[in-house]
This record gives sequence, structure tokens and C-alpha cells, in this order.
Amino acid sequence: MTKKNIVHVVGTGTIGEPLIALFCDFREKWGIDEVTFHKRTPSGDDRAMINSLLARGARLVADEQARDDFARFGHRVSYTADEAIERATVVVDCTPAGNENKVTCYQRVKGPKGFLAQGSEFGFGKPYALGINDEVQSPDERFVQIVSCNTHNISVLLKTLASVDGKMSLDAAQFVCMRRANDVSDAKSFLAAPQAGKHDDPEFGTHHARDAYHIFQTLGEKLNLFSSAIKINTQYMHTLWFTLRLAHETTLEEAKTLLRNNARVATTNKRSVNQIFSFGRDHGYYGRILSQTVVPLSTIAMPDARTIVGFCYTPQDGNSLLSSVAATLRYLDASKVDERMDVLRPHIFREI
Ligand SMILES: NC(=O)c1ccc[n+]([C@@H]2O[C@H](COP(=O)([O-])OP(=O)(O)OC[C@H]3O[C@@H](n4cnc5c(N)ncnc54)[C@H](OP(=O)(O)O)[C@@H]3O)[C@@H](O)[C@H]2O)c1
Repeated sequence: MTKKNIVHVVGTGTIGEPLIALFCDFREKWGIDEVTFHKRTPSGDDRAMINSLLARGARLVADEQARDDFARFGHRVSYTADEAIERATVVVDCTPAGNENKVTCYQRVKGPKGFLAQGSEFGFGKPYALGINDEVQSPDERFVQIVSCNTHNISVLLKTLASVDGKMSLDAAQFVCMRRANDVSDAKSFLAAPQAGKHDDPEFGTHHARDAYHIFQTLGEKLNLFSSAIKINTQYMHTLWFTLRLAHETTLEEAKTLLRNNARVATTNKRSVNQIFSFGRDHGYYGRILSQTVVPLSTIAMPDARTIVGFCYTPQDGNSLLSSVAATLRYLDASKVDERMDVLRPHIFREI
């Protein structure tokens, strides 16, 4: 008998919840037999969310000691955490504790073909972003880190604007990540005013440039990158200011054409974040824009023939979701990833 394809998502937060929904909605097209998800904390606030995911066909997983509390909220727990991980084909960790879970559990479990963790979990496994370093990914690699949403954005800008004939042609690049204070779903951590971040990485400034460096390093490239971060009092998308100093000359029209022609980049005439975010809410999958970046073309400038400056927006968390799907599908059947991803193309916008 062939083994069932089971995708198990750990965490039901900003990343976990839409991912569980995606795997349920496209289960048949993606050859998935069962979707399970682990929720750590039983809470009346989350009852409707859990019911909605169960109605989509997912099965609830909880720690043994939380079982009775979930039952009190009317939820049927199908498996304990350990059972679910052991029987899964792929485990997609969507918590800020992926590295910890790797040490305490994932490394000793034999069942799953692969484990994914998300942006905060530097060092979990080979870093990955769809369209950036697919050629060095393999289903034999058991641990993969899906890089953060801002790292996706930085990486797609670099790959689109600073590569020539498949090789990087860049002297240096700087980025300022103007981060939303909290996610729209969060009731805490909002800020009254901008708050500048520390440069706690002596070489790269913040983890954003560091993580982008490491993803390009998997391709044999060593880039000169530096990033700064500041949190601003918005709940919408992150804003990224960039300056790329190329190792070759180009023109403003050529730079805009490269952005327009990259299927992972959405270009737009809009400059207002709320209008772009709102487009995602109206037309995106689960409200998400699945493009890697949204670039308002009117903000792109070239002070000289080698320097490109501009703004762009990080599409909520949609880019990390898309890469998480691609990495999961690679473990299920590496030969069918492109074909299976086709169902999501309507949500990978070229224009907003
Ligand atoms: N938010 C974004 O826009 C975004 C974008 C890209 C990548 N990421 C990355 O995605 C990951 C998750 O971020 P998020 O924003 O989705 O977090 P979040 O909304 O705060 O949700 C975290 C989830 O993880 C669960 N959790 C926390 N610690 C756990 C543990 N030790 N064991 C099991 N479950 C645990 C929480 O469960 P309970 O609530 O039930 O306790 C919750 O469901 C991070 O690595 C982050 O860097 C986030």
C-alpha cells in the first residue's frame, strides 16, 4: 500500500492559518491525502478559526495535556503532537520556535521526508525563497528555512535588477525596512510613533541583509549588502527603500522593463500602501498578494547609470506562504511542483 501524503502545519498564527487553508483548498490538485495542524493554546477567542479550518477538512492536533480543554470548546482532537509529527510526510513549522522544536523533537523523528521553518528561524536548514534559489533545493535536504517576507523582497529586487546572464553584477546594496508595527490580526504591540531598530549585526546591519546574503550564498554569490530597520505606526505592509549600486551600466527604462517582465514582481501606479493592501484583501488568496514584491514604478530613480533607487512594498506575508507551498510540494513530488503551483498563479499579480 502506498503511504499517504500528509501535510502537518505547526502553529495557527499569521503564517500558519492561511497555509492550513491553502493546503486544504488545493488538497486534491496537490496530491495531499490529509492536512493536520497543531494548535498550542486552547482559547475561546480561537474557536471560530479552528472550526473554520476543520470545516475545510483539516484535522486538529494538540498536546496531550491540552486535549480536555479543546474538548470543552467543542473541538475534536484527532492526534497528539507526537503522533501527528511521526505520521506526517512534511512538517511545516509556522512558530517562532522552529529551531527549538528541531532540537527537542524533529531531529529524532523518522517519519517525515522534510521539515520547514519560517523567517525567524535562522540556521534551521537551507534557506529558500521561490524563484531565487530553486536550483539548489532538493527533496533530499530534510530541513529548509523559508526566509522572511522582507528577505524575499530584498532577494527578488537583487535578482531582477542586478543579475546579468544568470550571474550577480552588484557592487553593493542598502535597504531600509520600514516595518509595520504589528500584523492586522494582532491586538498588541501597536506603536504610537516610529521606532528605529538597532544595527545588531556588525557586518549586515540587521538580519534582513544577512538572510539575503545567505540565500545568495547558496548560489555561490557573496554580495555586499547592508540593511536598517525601523518600525512605523501602520498595520499594513512593510515598506522597503533600496539603493542598488550595479557593477554594470543600465537605464531607467531598462530597470522598469526588468521589473515589469518578472512574473514574481507586481508593479503598480499606486503609491499608497492602504490601496495596495486593500487590493490584496479584495483579490488575493485569503486576502494575500502572493507576489514577492509590489513596486510603484513612479518611485524608481537612477541618479547615475549604475545606481537604482526606489521604494517597494512587501506583500504582507504572501511571499513566504508561496515559498512554503513550493517547498512542501517538492517533498511530495519534485517533478510536479511547477504544474501544481499553477492553481495559485491568479494570485501572483503582475499589476496592482
Ligand atoms: N507575520 C508575518 O507577516 C510573517 C511573514 C513571514 C514570515 N513570518 C515568520 O513566520 C513565523 C511565525 O510568525 P507568525 O507571525 O505567524 O506568528 P504568530 O502569528 O505569533 O503565531 C505563532 C503561532 O505559533 C504558535 N506557537 C508559538 N510558540 C509555539 C511553540 N513553542 N510550540 C507550538 N506552537 C507555538 C502559537 O500558538 P498559540 O497561539 O496557540 O499559543 C501561534 O499559533 C516566524 O518565524 C516569523 O518570522 C511571519
